[in-house]
Amino acid sequence: MVHFARMTSRISSGRVHDRAGWAFLCRAIRRPHLFGSPAPSGRALAAQLARLLPDSGTPTVVELGAGTGALTRQIHERLPAGSRLLAVELDEVLARHLAAHLPGVDVRQGDAERLPALLADAGITRAEAVVTSLPWTLLPAHRRDAVLDAIAAALTPDGMATAVLTRTALPNRARELRRAFAARFAEVEAMPVVWRNLPPATVLVARRPHPAHQRTEHRPDHRSEHSRPDRRPGHRPPEPDARAS
Ligand SMILES: C[S@@+](CC[C@H](N)C(=O)[O-])C[C@H]1O[C@@H](n2cnc3c(N)ncnc32)[C@H](O)[C@@H]1O
Repeated sequence: MVHFARMTSRISSGRVHDRAGWAFLCRAIRRPHLFGSPAPSGRALAAQLARLLPDSGTPTVVELGAGTGALTRQIHERLPAGSRLLAVELDEVLARHLAAHLPGVDVRQGDAERLPALLADAGITRAEAVVTSLPWTLLPAHRRDAVLDAIAAALTPDGMATAVLTRTALPNRARELRRAFAARFAEVEAMPVVWRNLPPATVLVARRPHPAHQRTEHRPDHRSEHSRPDRRPGHRPPEPDARAS
Protein backbone atom coordinates (compact mmCIF):
# COMPACT_ATOMS: atom_id res chain seq x y z
CA MET A 1 0.00 0.00 0.00
CA VAL A 2 2.75 2.43 0.98
CA HIS A 3 4.63 1.49 -2.16
CA PHE A 4 1.50 2.18 -4.24
CA ALA A 5 1.02 5.59 -2.61
CA ARG A 6 4.63 6.55 -3.38
CA MET A 7 4.30 5.33 -6.93
CA THR A 8 1.07 7.22 -7.58
CA SER A 9 2.36 10.47 -6.13
CA ARG A 10 5.55 10.21 -8.18
CA ILE A 11 3.75 9.48 -11.41
CA SER A 12 1.05 12.05 -10.88
CA SER A 13 3.15 15.00 -9.80
CA GLY A 14 6.46 14.37 -11.49
CA ARG A 15 8.16 14.76 -8.10
CA VAL A 16 7.52 13.25 -4.75
CA HIS A 17 4.68 14.89 -2.81
CA ASP A 18 4.26 11.92 -0.53
CA ARG A 19 2.20 13.59 2.15
CA ALA A 20 -0.35 15.06 -0.24
CA GLY A 21 -0.42 11.86 -2.32
CA TRP A 22 -0.85 9.77 0.79
CA ALA A 23 -3.59 12.02 2.21
CA PHE A 24 -5.39 11.88 -1.13
CA LEU A 25 -5.17 8.10 -1.40
CA CYS A 26 -6.41 7.59 2.19
CA ARG A 27 -9.43 9.79 1.58
CA ALA A 28 -10.09 8.29 -1.86
CA ILE A 29 -10.12 4.78 -0.38
CA ARG A 30 -12.71 5.86 2.19
CA ARG A 31 -14.95 7.62 -0.30
CA PRO A 32 -14.12 6.31 -3.79
CA HIS A 33 -17.39 7.62 -5.27
CA LEU A 34 -16.28 11.17 -4.42
CA PHE A 35 -12.85 10.89 -5.99
CA GLY A 36 -12.97 8.72 -9.09
CA SER A 37 -9.17 8.73 -9.19
CA PRO A 38 -6.42 7.09 -7.06
CA ALA A 39 -4.01 10.04 -7.23
CA PRO A 40 -4.02 13.83 -7.39
CA SER A 41 -3.76 15.45 -10.81
CA GLY A 42 -0.23 15.62 -12.14
CA ARG A 43 1.79 18.69 -13.00
CA ALA A 44 1.30 18.39 -16.76
CA LEU A 45 -2.47 18.34 -16.42
CA ALA A 46 -2.41 21.21 -13.93
CA ALA A 47 -0.20 23.23 -16.27
CA GLN A 48 -2.52 22.61 -19.21
CA LEU A 49 -5.47 23.76 -17.16
CA ALA A 50 -3.73 26.80 -15.69
CA ARG A 51 -2.76 28.03 -19.18
CA LEU A 52 -6.47 28.34 -20.01
CA LEU A 53 -6.98 30.93 -17.30
CA PRO A 54 -6.53 34.69 -17.69
CA ASP A 55 -3.05 35.99 -16.89
CA SER A 56 -4.11 39.63 -16.92
CA GLY A 57 -6.76 41.68 -15.17
CA THR A 58 -8.14 40.65 -11.79
CA PRO A 59 -10.40 37.68 -12.48
CA THR A 60 -12.40 35.70 -9.96
CA VAL A 61 -11.85 31.96 -10.31
CA VAL A 62 -13.72 29.23 -8.44
CA GLU A 63 -12.38 25.70 -8.13
CA LEU A 64 -14.75 22.85 -7.24
CA GLY A 65 -13.24 19.66 -5.79
CA ALA A 66 -9.82 21.06 -4.93
CA GLY A 67 -8.54 17.87 -3.22
CA THR A 68 -4.98 18.30 -2.00
CA GLY A 69 -4.49 21.37 -4.19
CA ALA A 70 -2.69 19.80 -7.15
CA LEU A 71 -4.55 22.13 -9.55
CA THR A 72 -5.08 24.93 -7.04
CA ARG A 73 -1.36 25.65 -6.69
CA GLN A 74 -0.76 26.14 -10.40
CA ILE A 75 -3.97 28.11 -10.86
CA HIS A 76 -2.94 30.39 -8.02
CA GLU A 77 0.51 30.87 -9.52
CA ARG A 78 -1.03 31.73 -12.89
CA LEU A 79 -3.48 34.36 -11.66
CA PRO A 80 -2.31 37.97 -11.53
CA ALA A 81 -2.09 39.85 -8.25
CA GLY A 82 -5.50 41.17 -7.21
CA SER A 83 -7.34 38.13 -8.58
CA ARG A 84 -9.50 36.00 -6.36
CA LEU A 85 -9.37 32.21 -6.08
CA LEU A 86 -12.07 30.38 -4.14
CA ALA A 87 -11.35 26.66 -3.64
CA VAL A 88 -14.25 24.43 -2.59
CA GLU A 89 -13.62 20.95 -1.20
CA LEU A 90 -16.17 18.59 0.33
CA ASP A 91 -13.78 16.46 2.36
CA GLU A 92 -13.10 18.09 5.74
CA VAL A 93 -9.58 16.64 6.10
CA LEU A 94 -8.51 17.78 2.64
CA ALA A 95 -10.13 21.19 3.10
CA ARG A 96 -8.05 21.67 6.27
CA HIS A 97 -4.93 20.51 4.42
CA LEU A 98 -5.60 23.04 1.65
CA ALA A 99 -6.22 25.92 4.02
CA ALA A 100 -2.98 25.14 5.86
CA HIS A 101 -0.85 24.89 2.71
CA LEU A 102 -2.32 27.58 0.45
CA PRO A 103 -2.60 30.74 2.55
CA GLY A 104 -3.37 33.00 -0.42
CA VAL A 105 -6.41 30.94 -1.46
CA ASP A 106 -9.91 31.32 -0.01
CA VAL A 107 -10.66 27.70 0.95
CA ARG A 108 -14.21 26.66 1.79
CA GLN A 109 -15.26 23.25 2.99
CA GLY A 110 -18.55 22.52 1.30
CA ASP A 111 -20.55 20.71 -1.32
CA ALA A 112 -20.39 21.92 -4.92
CA GLU A 113 -24.10 21.21 -5.04
CA ARG A 114 -24.52 24.21 -2.75
CA LEU A 115 -22.61 26.47 -5.14
CA PRO A 116 -25.05 29.42 -5.05
CA ALA A 117 -24.92 29.50 -1.22
CA LEU A 118 -21.13 29.10 -1.20
CA LEU A 119 -20.73 32.01 -3.62
CA ALA A 120 -23.17 34.15 -1.65
CA ASP A 121 -21.25 33.40 1.57
CA ALA A 122 -18.04 34.41 -0.15
CA GLY A 123 -19.66 37.56 -1.56
CA ILE A 124 -19.09 36.49 -5.16
CA THR A 125 -21.71 37.52 -7.70
CA ARG A 126 -19.90 36.53 -10.88
CA ALA A 127 -16.78 34.54 -11.76
CA GLU A 128 -14.68 34.59 -14.91
CA ALA A 129 -13.96 30.86 -14.58
CA VAL A 130 -15.17 27.82 -12.67
CA VAL A 131 -12.64 25.01 -12.75
CA THR A 132 -13.73 21.56 -11.66
CA SER A 133 -12.31 18.10 -11.11
CA LEU A 134 -15.43 16.64 -9.54
CA PRO A 135 -16.23 12.97 -10.19
CA TRP A 136 -18.69 14.15 -12.84
CA THR A 137 -19.26 10.84 -14.56
CA LEU A 138 -20.16 9.16 -11.24
CA LEU A 139 -22.86 11.71 -10.41
CA PRO A 140 -26.53 10.96 -11.07
CA ALA A 141 -27.77 13.09 -13.98
CA HIS A 142 -30.02 15.34 -11.87
CA ARG A 143 -27.19 16.23 -9.48
CA ARG A 144 -24.73 16.77 -12.33
CA ASP A 145 -27.24 19.06 -14.07
CA ALA A 146 -27.97 21.05 -10.92
CA VAL A 147 -24.26 21.78 -10.41
CA LEU A 148 -23.80 22.66 -14.09
CA ASP A 149 -26.79 25.01 -13.98
CA ALA A 150 -25.31 26.74 -10.94
CA ILE A 151 -21.92 27.05 -12.65
CA ALA A 152 -23.42 28.54 -15.83
CA ALA A 153 -25.45 31.00 -13.74
CA ALA A 154 -22.37 32.10 -11.80
CA LEU A 155 -20.23 32.92 -14.84
CA THR A 156 -19.76 36.18 -16.71
CA PRO A 157 -21.18 36.12 -20.28
CA ASP A 158 -17.76 35.24 -21.71
CA GLY A 159 -16.87 33.05 -18.76
CA MET A 160 -15.32 29.59 -18.89
CA ALA A 161 -16.02 26.32 -17.10
CA THR A 162 -13.76 23.28 -17.16
CA ALA A 163 -13.98 19.64 -16.11
CA VAL A 164 -11.26 17.02 -15.81
CA LEU A 165 -12.30 13.89 -17.63
CA THR A 166 -10.22 10.77 -17.01
CA ARG A 167 -9.73 8.10 -19.65
CA THR A 168 -11.09 5.55 -17.18
CA ALA A 169 -14.56 7.16 -17.26
CA LEU A 170 -17.21 5.08 -18.97
CA PRO A 171 -17.44 6.37 -22.57
CA ASN A 172 -21.21 6.80 -22.47
CA ARG A 173 -20.99 8.79 -19.20
CA ALA A 174 -18.25 10.94 -20.73
CA ARG A 175 -20.42 11.61 -23.78
CA GLU A 176 -23.38 12.50 -21.54
CA LEU A 177 -21.21 14.93 -19.62
CA ARG A 178 -20.08 16.61 -22.80
CA ARG A 179 -23.68 16.87 -23.97
CA ALA A 180 -24.69 18.37 -20.60
CA PHE A 181 -22.01 21.06 -21.05
CA ALA A 182 -23.06 21.64 -24.67
CA ALA A 183 -26.65 22.25 -23.55
CA ARG A 184 -25.46 25.17 -21.42
CA PHE A 185 -22.48 26.66 -23.28
CA ALA A 186 -21.95 28.07 -26.76
CA GLU A 187 -18.57 26.37 -27.18
CA VAL A 188 -17.26 23.07 -25.80
CA GLU A 189 -13.92 21.49 -26.64
CA ALA A 190 -11.67 18.78 -25.24
CA MET A 191 -7.99 19.58 -24.78
CA PRO A 192 -5.39 17.00 -25.88
CA VAL A 193 -5.16 13.98 -23.58
CA VAL A 194 -2.44 14.27 -20.95
CA TRP A 195 -0.96 10.77 -20.94
CA ARG A 196 1.53 11.58 -18.20
CA ASN A 197 -1.19 11.58 -15.59
CA LEU A 198 -2.66 8.86 -13.40
CA PRO A 199 -5.05 8.06 -14.94
CA PRO A 200 -4.53 9.83 -18.30
CA ALA A 201 -7.02 12.66 -18.56
CA THR A 202 -8.31 15.47 -20.68
CA VAL A 203 -9.69 18.88 -19.77
CA LEU A 204 -13.13 19.68 -21.12
CA VAL A 205 -13.44 23.42 -21.72
CA ALA A 206 -16.79 25.19 -22.08
CA ARG A 207 -17.07 28.87 -22.90
CA ARG A 208 -19.81 31.47 -23.01
CA PRO A 209 -22.84 30.17 -21.08
CA HIS A 210 -26.10 30.45 -23.02
CA PRO A 211 -27.98 33.58 -21.86
CA ALA A 212 -30.95 31.42 -20.79
CA HIS A 213 -28.68 29.82 -18.17
CA GLN A 214 -27.39 33.08 -16.79
CA ARG A 215 -28.73 35.23 -14.02
CA THR A 216 -30.76 38.09 -15.44
CA GLU A 217 -29.40 41.07 -13.50
CA HIS A 218 -27.07 43.29 -15.50
CA ARG A 219 -23.98 44.85 -14.10
CA PRO A 220 -21.95 47.59 -15.75
CA ASP A 221 -18.84 45.62 -14.80
CA HIS A 222 -19.20 41.85 -15.27
CA ARG A 223 -16.37 41.09 -12.90
CA SER A 224 -17.46 40.06 -9.45
CA GLU A 225 -17.36 42.72 -6.78
CA HIS A 226 -14.66 40.66 -5.13
CA SER A 227 -12.39 40.55 -8.13
CA ARG A 228 -11.79 44.18 -7.19
CA PRO A 229 -9.54 44.26 -4.17
CA ASP A 230 -10.85 47.63 -2.99
CA ARG A 231 -14.33 46.14 -2.57
CA ARG A 232 -13.49 43.06 -0.58
CA PRO A 233 -14.83 43.12 2.97
CA GLY A 234 -11.93 43.03 5.35
CA HIS A 235 -9.51 43.15 2.43
CA ARG A 236 -5.90 42.92 3.44
CA PRO A 237 -3.12 43.32 0.90
CA PRO A 238 -1.54 39.91 0.24
CA GLU A 239 1.53 38.96 2.23
CA PRO A 240 4.67 39.09 0.10
CA ASP A 241 4.93 35.30 0.25
CA ALA A 242 1.18 34.58 0.01
CA ARG A 243 1.75 32.59 -3.18
CA ALA A 244 4.22 30.15 -1.70
CA SER A 245 2.73 26.70 -1.18
C1 LIG B 1 -10.54 13.53 -8.54
S1 LIG B 1 -10.40 14.45 -7.04
C2 LIG B 1 -9.57 15.90 -7.69
C3 LIG B 1 -8.75 16.60 -6.65
C4 LIG B 1 -7.81 17.67 -7.18
N1 LIG B 1 -8.53 18.78 -7.77
C5 LIG B 1 -6.86 17.10 -8.18
O1 LIG B 1 -7.03 17.40 -9.37
O2 LIG B 1 -5.95 16.38 -7.78
C6 LIG B 1 -12.05 14.99 -6.76
C7 LIG B 1 -12.20 15.88 -5.55
O3 LIG B 1 -13.52 16.40 -5.54
C8 LIG B 1 -14.01 16.37 -4.20
N2 LIG B 1 -15.47 16.34 -4.30
C9 LIG B 1 -16.25 15.31 -4.70
N3 LIG B 1 -17.53 15.65 -4.69
C10 LIG B 1 -17.57 16.96 -4.28
C11 LIG B 1 -18.63 17.87 -4.07
N4 LIG B 1 -19.90 17.54 -4.28
N5 LIG B 1 -18.32 19.13 -3.67
C12 LIG B 1 -17.01 19.49 -3.45
N6 LIG B 1 -15.98 18.66 -3.62
C13 LIG B 1 -16.25 17.39 -4.04
C14 LIG B 1 -13.40 15.11 -3.60
O4 LIG B 1 -13.41 15.15 -2.19
C15 LIG B 1 -11.99 15.16 -4.22
O5 LIG B 1 -11.12 15.89 -3.42
